[in-house]
Amino acid sequence: MTEPAASWRTRIAHQRPQWPKRELGVVVDRLATAPALVAPRECDALTERLAGVAEGRAFLVQGGDCAERLGEIPAVRGKLRLLREMARIIAYAVRVPVVPVGRMAGQYAKPRSRPTETVAGRTLPAYRGDAVNGTGCGPGDRRPDPARLHRIYEASRATRGVMRTYAPEVYASHEGLLLDYEEALTRTDEQGRRYASSGHLLWIGDRTRQLDGAHVAWFATVANPIAVKLGPATTPEQALALIDRLDPDRRPGRLTFVVRLGARRVRDLLPELVAKVTASGAPVSWVCDPMHGNTFAAPTGHKTRRLADIMAETAAFVEVHRALGTQVGGLHVEMTGENVTECVGGGVGFADLPRRYESACDPRLNRGQALELAAALADLLKQGVRDATD
Ligand code: PEP
Ligand code: CO
Repeated sequence: MTEPAASWRTRIAHQRPQWPKRELGVVVDRLATAPALVAPRECDALTERLAGVAEGRAFLVQGGDCAERLGEIPAVRGKLRLLREMARIIAYAVRVPVVPVGRMAGQYAKPRSRPTETVAGRTLPAYRGDAVNGTGCGPGDRRPDPARLHRIYEASRATRGVMRTYAPEVYASHEGLLLDYEEALTRTDEQGRRYASSGHLLWIGDRTRQLDGAHVAWFATVANPIAVKLGPATTPEQALALIDRLDPDRRPGRLTFVVRLGARRVRDLLPELVAKVTASGAPVSWVCDPMHGNTFAAPTGHKTRRLADIMAETAAFVEVHRALGTQVGGLHVEMTGENVTECVGGGVGFADLPRRYESACDPRLNRGQALELAAALADLLKQGVRDATD
């Protein structure tokens, strides 16, 4: 590693909660000796599989909640089942192995665009995920509470248990947002390599990918496979600089770009990003997140997304890669096995949103909507397989 292990501490960590210092120290010390949630060799195995994704020999299907909730362990099985069903539908079309990765067992911290939010007419500090504070409106509910870090560690451990029992082939991923937590769970293997032990694959969010920020510096110090979310403000130069910082050795499978440009902008913005990165020779995988660029407020005020926009961004992503002759690496979605009404389309109208809107953060596809998306993507990808073998 070219990055000194502690240099991230001198940089600005955007989105860092205002933790009470002493209480944070106690929790961090406790987590520093807690059992690892994933093993280095499992992380290396995922890196190897992602190397196949970059080369078109495998396909990544990554999905789960926007924000996991404490106490929702019973829903894990349904999410795993859905993820595997989506993987099966897509594998049948692409005729290469699918790598299933859950947004789970650690997806408890949320970056926010604004420091406050209005709930029932009251302005409150924003909810930042169960790792940080609560969704309630009472005094103290929104205060960052370091004790929560230990609770989300235990919930992640329980989720890993469910994953091992019902779906040992599914890897665990989350946004590596809270560096105090991630550093406390960093472990060193026999060869002296540092690994995040909180999940196999960690990603840097679109709000924390600053080249001089603490997140990029911290991610550079761990050997896990990692991803970076790229939103519409990303320049090709930034993408190239991220590669230099995060994958200086150009290790196949190390770095994945999860692109979330929005259905309306993907055709304009994606070609130059992919063309310049491809020309540099860097072995990155390109994964489509058709969710985060397509969020809007419904007439009822609910944060929602249209299945039609999600499908349109996915189709445009595939088209752009096909035109450039590059590989579609995978799909990244927010979904749940429950029959929620959070996104519109596939039988859910605006009037249905209040009925079962359960997400604490972004709207998820329900089971039917997620399967519809997987089937549509399979059709698009099958077309490519057919063209290639004609
Ligand atoms: C997310 O994945 O929930 C998220 C906040 O994404 P992004 O960083 O792409 O906005
Ligand atoms: Co989200």
